[in-house]
Amino acid sequence: MKFSLLSILALLLPLTAAQTQNATASVTDPTDRAELALTALQTFYNESTGLWLGWWQSANAMTVVANLAKVDSNPKIQSLAAQVFANTVAKAPAHNIDPNAEPPLKKKRKRAMSGYDKGYDENGIPFTTLPKGWGEIPSAHIRGRANAPAFDPYSWLDGFYDDDLWWALGYIAAYDVTKKAEYLTLSEGIFNAVARVWPSSCGNGGIFWNSKKNVVNAIANELFFSTAAHLANRASDANTYANWAVKSIDWFVATGMINNASLINDGLTSAPDCKNNGLPTWSYNQGVILGGLAELYKARPNSTYMNLANRLAKASIEGIANKAGVIQDPCGPLCGADASQFKGIYMRGLQAVYAMNPDPSYAASIKTNADSVWANDRNAKNQLSIQWAGPFIGTANSTTQSSAMEALIAAIVVK
Ligand SMILES: *[C@@H]1O[C@H](CO)[C@@H](O)[C@H](O)[C@H]1NC(C)=O
Ligand SMILES: *[C@@H]1O[C@H](CO)[C@@H](O)[C@H](O)[C@H]1NC(C)=O
Ligand SMILES: *[C@@H]1O[C@H](CO)[C@@H](O)[C@H](O)[C@H]1NC(C)=O
Ligand SMILES: *[C@@H]1O[C@H](CO)[C@@H](O)[C@H](O)[C@H]1NC(C)=O
Ligand SMILES: *[C@@H]1O[C@H](CO)[C@@H](O)[C@H](O)[C@H]1NC(C)=O
Repeated sequence: MKFSLLSILALLLPLTAAQTQNATASVTDPTDRAELALTALQTFYNESTGLWLGWWQSANAMTVVANLAKVDSNPKIQSLAAQVFANTVAKAPAHNIDPNAEPPLKKKRKRAMSGYDKGYDENGIPFTTLPKGWGEIPSAHIRGRANAPAFDPYSWLDGFYDDDLWWALGYIAAYDVTKKAEYLTLSEGIFNAVARVWPSSCGNGGIFWNSKKNVVNAIANELFFSTAAHLANRASDANTYANWAVKSIDWFVATGMINNASLINDGLTSAPDCKNNGLPTWSYNQGVILGGLAELYKARPNSTYMNLANRLAKASIEGIANKAGVIQDPCGPLCGADASQFKGIYMRGLQAVYAMNPDPSYAASIKTNADSVWANDRNAKNQLSIQWAGPFIGTANSTTQSSAMEALIAAIVVK
């Protein structure tokens, strides 16, 4: 894909910010838009840590780089992506946020609490507490991590199974781009380490959110399902992963986390109650399952999976968007460091369902969101903010940038 003349000028000439914004505002080619946004994303990438901002968010930023490389054959993008994967796999393990939380079974240790925690604030908005010094100096909060082996699954486990599985999906995406078997093997190792914790205390299946084993939520279980389904189309032991995917989606549907409006709530109430907890229908919870269903349908072409994906996609396109069709989470501009990643994950799932079933309503939603991001949610440096409907607000960072980029990338596929 070629840059338009205007975007080349915007990249090469030291224009004023306002002129640049006008120049790139007229870029309409989805690939050109995504490439410009990638340039902005990489200004947030720290070569020495292999991370952008945040631990699980960085797994998503890496996935976004891979997702662009999957649909953009530009050699510069291909080589940038390959370099990013290689650097991240080598450097990031030294920054595992809580490396002792989930040791291998053989070396069972007391859970060393680093101070890392995730939860919900009084307004129901997800928050993260980071250990002091995390992400600043390698392993400031914990000794002996500087040489954590890159391709050891345990280098990526931090006691929160959603975090772990984001990395598994990230390395599956890296494998898709590079076809390097090490990335696939790493993803399998992470998945299998998490699979040890099946079942939870609800419905004789599922996984807990984290190693404290007191919360059963949608995100960890959707990621478990989706990772299994992705592996079912890639790993040599395909049948084992397909069986995990079937088992976990059957369990998921039976829990009642999908509400009567076909939207997925945050999770379940505590055991033994195990009912839909009625907490927000976060955009990412409508998205991860779609990617999983599209993959499972490929591995096991059973219309149940396609039908469920269509029902959920149609419900969420309207159910989590504003009147103009632009996706938003209930926390809006105040989503914070975690929920500001969510919306792009939804777009990624919708893109996957579109690939399985090219329904025009999916394409329309993707285009609406991508066009709104570009027209209303961008500053002169092609940074993208948290508010896709616009205006551009607050500080853009790698979280808001990579999230909004998923809409731009999905638009490449549906154009
Ligand atoms: C952008 O372009 C429009 C139309 O060409 C012009 O009226 C406007 O002043 C420009 N804005 C900036 C900030 O340069
Ligand atoms: C990258 O992270 C390292 C280690 O925490 C830090 O010292 C450095 O300042 C960061 N670099 C940039 C460009 O932010
Ligand atoms: C759907 O669920 C909501 C919330 O639990 C409830 O108030 C409503 O009555 C239900 N609607 C139907 C048609 O079952
Ligand atoms: C299709 O999938 C559903 C749900 O997993 C299952 O109950 C059903 O038996 C499957 N049908 C076939 C033909 O395998
Ligand atoms: C990234 O930006 C969003 C939106 O401004 C903000 O809520 C979030 O806290 C930022 N992330 C970090 C880690 O600072």
